[in-house]
Amino acid sequence: MTDIVSEIRDLKARSNATILAHYYQDGEIQSLADVTGDSLKLAREATKVHNPTIVFCGVHFMAETAKILNPEKRVLLPDLKAGCSLAESCPAPKLARYQEMLRENGRKFQTVTYINSTAGVKALSDWVVTSGNAEQIIRRVPQECEILFVPDRHLGQYLSEATGRKMILWDGACIVHEIFSVGDLLALKKTVPGAITLAHPECPANIREHSEFIGGTEAMLRYVATFTKPTDFLVATEANMMWQLQSKFPRHRYLPVAGITCACNKCPHMARNTLEKVRDCLANGTPEIGWQSGFDRAREVLQRSLLN
Ligand code: 13P
Ligand code: SF4
Repeated sequence: MTDIVSEIRDLKARSNATILAHYYQDGEIQSLADVTGDSLKLAREATKVHNPTIVFCGVHFMAETAKILNPEKRVLLPDLKAGCSLAESCPAPKLARYQEMLRENGRKFQTVTYINSTAGVKALSDWVVTSGNAEQIIRRVPQECEILFVPDRHLGQYLSEATGRKMILWDGACIVHEIFSVGDLLALKKTVPGAITLAHPECPANIREHSEFIGGTEAMLRYVATFTKPTDFLVATEANMMWQLQSKFPRHRYLPVAGITCACNKCPHMARNTLEKVRDCLANGTPEIGWQSGFDRAREVLQRSLLN
């Protein structure tokens, strides 16, 4: 065990903290977490934590969601600047103006918001979804309502096709999933015949249409578990997901689908959290996600959408 890992374990025990980590965190962070998961699992697990402190190894909207669902807990995020291109693409005042314009034009709609968004945007929404429960929630939107889906246009397009519901799509995208190269995927498929391609629904249509499986990170794990014989998987999602796949199902081989501009597909926001920052936040009790006045309305929407 390296010094820093034992230091973190020690500090965690002394400060009665629980570490939650997303599958897009470095393997060294995932391996010392109490719970690893996708956005949905982590939001739900956060509500079951008994310790007074949660260290959320993920990005800001995830830690904020954990705080909103657990106001009495101290929620620490190792690096407060760990953002998300999707959350950035949809500022709450801009969404409020757009909703107002739709209402003035007599449109009857409900706003379905991907969890990768700020609390302010969640507060303006009827529903919050993750890649793990989106289809289920969309079926709860009355047929007579249009759906305004924000902020991921690729996920929105995928969900519109999967559910047959017409959607007004916000123009946001994930900087990691948007840049997978379809040319490289097709070339890789030729060199690894019989390989199964796994794509996250945040990927654009040209990647999804060449994939055998489309689903969020938790769904990928469930799918890969069904392959009993050693199989090759081409993985079109954030590179650290391969660490989780490899550690749960080492009988298979996992190859990353390359991006147009880089080969690794690492989320720069997730990468802000390091072992040193996890140690420091446990030692100092900061940075902390503070409670904000708009959280109450976001809490109602989150509880209705994720916990029921
Ligand atoms: P899931 O955790 O729902 O698979 O989503 C991936 C993601 O992009 C989180 O930022
Ligand atoms: Fe946001 Fe994409 Fe990073 Fe997920 S992988 S946190 S969607 S930028």
